Amino acid sequence: MTLQYNNEAVSYKITIAPGALAQAGELLCLQRKVLVVTDKGVPSQYAEAVLAQCPEGYLLVLDGGEENKSLDSVRQILAALLEHGFTRKDAVVAVGGGVVGDTAGFAASCYMRGIDWYNVPTTLLSQVDSSVGGKTGVNFQGIKNIVGAFHHPSGVIIDTRTLDTLSPRLFAEGLAEVIKMAATSDAALFRLLEDTDDLRPIMEQVISAALSIKLRVVTEDPTEHGLRAVLNFGHTIGHAIEAAAGCSTSRELPPEDFASLIPPTPDGAGPSHLSEMLAPPVVPQGTSALRGGHGRPRSPEAIPAAVSHTAADNSGVVPQAPVSVSTLGHVRGRGPQAERSGRDEPALRAKISGAEAPVGIQNGGSIYHGEAIAIGMLYMATGEAKERIEGLLKKYGLPTEDPFSVDELMEFAAHDKKRSGKTVKLVKVDQIGSFRFEEAGPEELRSIIQARKI
Ligand SMILES: NC(=O)c1ccc[n+]([C@@H]2O[C@H](COP(=O)([O-])OP(=O)(O)OC[C@H]3O[C@@H](n4cnc5c(N)ncnc54)[C@H](O)[C@@H]3O)[C@@H](O)[C@H]2O)c1
Repeated sequence: MTLQYNNEAVSYKITIAPGALAQAGELLCLQRKVLVVTDKGVPSQYAEAVLAQCPEGYLLVLDGGEENKSLDSVRQILAALLEHGFTRKDAVVAVGGGVVGDTAGFAASCYMRGIDWYNVPTTLLSQVDSSVGGKTGVNFQGIKNIVGAFHHPSGVIIDTRTLDTLSPRLFAEGLAEVIKMAATSDAALFRLLEDTDDLRPIMEQVISAALSIKLRVVTEDPTEHGLRAVLNFGHTIGHAIEAAAGCSTSRELPPEDFASLIPPTPDGAGPSHLSEMLAPPVVPQGTSALRGGHGRPRSPEAIPAAVSHTAADNSGVVPQAPVSVSTLGHVRGRGPQAERSGRDEPALRAKISGAEAPVGIQNGGSIYHGEAIAIGMLYMATGEAKERIEGLLKKYGLPTEDPFSVDELMEFAAHDKKRSGKTVKLVKVDQIGSFRFEEAGPEELRSIIQARKI
């Protein structure tokens, strides 16, 4: 399946198919120097598959996780490009989730004032969201995506088989994004999600439908002043939940896409209630506590004892080498073991039962961005639409409840980035497949939150 991104200045192809990586040599222009950038949490075979089709390929393996969406990672990419004599005619290929794509795309935008890059997104979230739109960038001084550029890829390959190695929780998080798009804009896709027992065989169709919505929205509203706000369905309360869970900073952030900073804690798997995700933070020694709103807490397993990008050289670049197991893919950010580790069950029970939360719960949490948005959507839907969204979230193991009071949510929703003046621009869904915008003042917002708390 192929989609096309077109605007006045840019046009590129998005290929979606199981096994598409094997066609990288035909789909992308790899007959030049190519730097394949991936991270340690991405199974090595995906970068290897691209590398094997590059006559002159180099590999750079970054540390993974939101905290490595940084200028230092950009520096590593630029150093590798320079060291291997890349020119304006050469290219970068990002193989990984949104962190790798945003970082490598941004490095490509800077090197020699911009060289080609290709995006090979390997998480469901990055496939249905960050693969189009051209936003690249990194976090800086604790602020998410504050340094960046619009630099579209020259091509995108979405190999649906890469989803086979994704943890169920990460898969569900990506699905929350799909549900969001379907709820506002595609009733047929929503129905498909409801009626299908096993989505995996039809992921090509699901991703294509979700991406088509995003393509339509970003093409119609490239400047993000109108229709694009529909992509914020669930964000007002979702961000408040992240903040209340201690998954974002209370610091005033600049507007536009600067979500939050999440303290690292171990993950929990497949909860249906947000309370189950909340646990005291476990901050591995020597790591920072910065996190981004789209990012997730990193498990201790994801933090290598020593930073070693590859076995080959100090720059972390392996020239044309077959990638050995020791250089790639063995420090997984969120394997099933990582997801089960370290949860503080008494603390969780206390929070669920409404008892006073043990120290740490309020300030440390473990909720993925997509999970918070999932709950946030339910505040903004009404009637049958709400019931159907709730049904889908439950079906796919996403949370539907949060434990926060109206006051707690109000406090954090007041910082919402979509606030203009004294009102917030809400996206409401009354009927699946359609939406409306509603400007809400504090009292209206309070009563919307209250209605769900009764
Ligand atoms: N540019 C945009 O328009 C845009 C849009 C949405 C989100 N984003 C950004 O995307 C980032 C989040 O992306 P993400 O959710 O992909 O997170 P991520 O890149 O951190 O990936 C999540 C984890 O999954 C691992 N992983 C990746 N592919 C895998 C696979 N196939 N199998 C097993 N593990 C795999 C990664 O190593 C990582 O540990 C955020 O930084 C956010 O700001 C950008």
